[in-house]
Amino acid sequence: MTQSPGQGNALDNLLTESRTFPPSDEFAAQANAQPALYEEAKADREAFWAKQAERLHWETKWDQVLDWSGAPFAKWFVGGKLNVAYNCVDRHVESGHGDQVAIHWEGEPGDSRAITYAELQREVSKAANALTSLGIGAEDRVAIYMPMVPEAIFAMLACARVGALHNVVFGGFSAEALRTRIQDSACRLVITTDGQYRRGTPAPLKPAVDEAVADAPSVEKVIVVKRTDTEVAWTDKDVWWHELVDSQSDQHTPEAFDSEHPLFILYTSGTTGKPKGILHTSGGYLTQASYTHQNVFDLKPDTDVYWCTADIGWVTGHSYIVYGPLSNRVTQVVYEGTPNTPHEGRHWEIVQKYGVSIYYTAPTLIRTFMKWGADIPAKYDLSSLRVLGSVGEPINPEAWIWYRENVGGGKTPIVDTWWQTETGAIMISPLPGVISTKPGSAQRPLPGIGAKVVNDEGVEVPAGGGGYLVLDEPWPSMLRGIWGDEERYRDTYWSRFKDQGFYFAGDGAKYDADGDIWLLGRVDDVMNVSGHRISTTEVESALVSHPTVAEAAVVGASDDTTGQGIVAFVILRGGAGADAGGADAIKALRDHVAKEIGPIAKPRQIMVVPELPKTRSGKIMRRLLRDVAENRAVGDVTTLADSSVMDLISAGLQSGK
Ligand code: WT7
Repeated sequence: MTQSPGQGNALDNLLTESRTFPPSDEFAAQANAQPALYEEAKADREAFWAKQAERLHWETKWDQVLDWSGAPFAKWFVGGKLNVAYNCVDRHVESGHGDQVAIHWEGEPGDSRAITYAELQREVSKAANALTSLGIGAEDRVAIYMPMVPEAIFAMLACARVGALHNVVFGGFSAEALRTRIQDSACRLVITTDGQYRRGTPAPLKPAVDEAVADAPSVEKVIVVKRTDTEVAWTDKDVWWHELVDSQSDQHTPEAFDSEHPLFILYTSGTTGKPKGILHTSGGYLTQASYTHQNVFDLKPDTDVYWCTADIGWVTGHSYIVYGPLSNRVTQVVYEGTPNTPHEGRHWEIVQKYGVSIYYTAPTLIRTFMKWGADIPAKYDLSSLRVLGSVGEPINPEAWIWYRENVGGGKTPIVDTWWQTETGAIMISPLPGVISTKPGSAQRPLPGIGAKVVNDEGVEVPAGGGGYLVLDEPWPSMLRGIWGDEERYRDTYWSRFKDQGFYFAGDGAKYDADGDIWLLGRVDDVMNVSGHRISTTEVESALVSHPTVAEAAVVGASDDTTGQGIVAFVILRGGAGADAGGADAIKALRDHVAKEIGPIAKPRQIMVVPELPKTRSGKIMRRLLRDVAENRAVGDVTTLADSSVMDLISAGLQSGK
């Protein structure tokens, strides 16, 4: 199999990692999850999920748990009706928790706001009425392009309330990326802000919307939240949030929708240049988001303060800031800014201020904290923390141990949670209080989930063996397809192990001697940079759209902080000019990629080369380029059409140094 680079560490550690951390008796005794959960799910999977669905309020109960007759398109809780927003907001007010803080919002410049469930209900109701006043209702698509302000969450829940699908686009994406995502799903409405705070300074956001909307005729209106008070250009489609929403009634009766009513589309990178609109629906999604959030994080709604540091632009923000936590009546911190604004202790200051007890973040940030130094968290009182989580990429054991020691006071369980935009919710993770945790391993599928490591033939590998991660049973929060592209859905996920009917996750994995699962990174042309998926093709397309570039090949090279870093090899066009390979020109190329996709896709390094290594059929051999990018001896070149190409590349790079 193709191993993703940069996973060498995980593999080495796998051979030597033997530390395990059993839960304390005290933790185990109070844990939401108990060992019996595994047996219960195993005895009758569908009955298990039916029981989990009871955690929600259903307006009409379902009459069938799972309909898999149209595989690979699942239907869960068939015939059931519910309102997702009601489940996340109103029912907590009705059960007497209206005064409980739902969101402790912390703005980057230091402003803050505590929003109770009663207030959340009023805000979401007003926003829902505003959507209705614009004629937005069931099945309509609404793009949300916003920083981490409370209105972003109100907007998502308002969509859910009226049955519209939200299409949240990360605020760090470019106008171009926003435009394609709006166009692909024909959004009728965009909700945005005038600007966003980034590292202490307000940066404009609305101009990107103006640029995108100019070329997206499906958009009828743009609602603008005033956040930074920056001057913005105004078009006749624009309306201020405070004028439209604040004048609405704060009463709104939610309508119950079918369990399979679409809830949202979220775009993610695939192996081609075109992002995939991953489609999620209501009942099954909310059931699994809620179940996993309560059990994996051991949430106690009356006493915990939870904080997930993701952005709502990613699936983690959808499932573990909005739907899972709010359905469980969480009290949570939502932070707008970057972790080092205005100083590198900002997260720990926030943990101390609110007494955060559950903290969920990404390995790339943990490694950044390591770089900043253990003396920084040491300055704060972090004793409130009792569960730590990790998501987005494999966490190396060193970072895991550092996290436990320096953030978790050497006592907290760490849950390493494996899942994807497509899976909708956590699939593989230890259950705290039940499983002895092991640094670097996501360990085992959650009760109710089927996951295996198989070889090329789809046969499960023995303990100690490696192969591909597959999901061998349908699960409630699974994607229901790719927006507008049934073929691509079947091809991408269900064709690799068609005979077995397995979902192909695209990740390499291995079992250790105990049968625990270790994730080894992507096996396709998808890079993982700081826990964000970026396709090599997407970056290549952006590069070749620049007038000086003839050809480009992009690889993910291992990076100590970001997991993988983007390294690009470009061939310049004849007549591109003598200085086209110079520092300024390289900078222009990096900026060009940022403009086309977003700053997260900026290559770490761009190398100008005379040729690219290709097979006789013209496929670029990224493996060889990765060897160059990671300063390794170049591997087997015998399948190259012209085996001298690698010498040319190496010689060119040497002389360039
Ligand atoms: C890909 C999914 C799930 C929310 C964030 C990313 C990688 C995710 C882990 C983990 C090892 C992980 C996989 C996966 N990944 N979590 N705990 N250990 N790898 O969502 O953008 O859909 O990316 O992220 O490669 O396929 P996403």
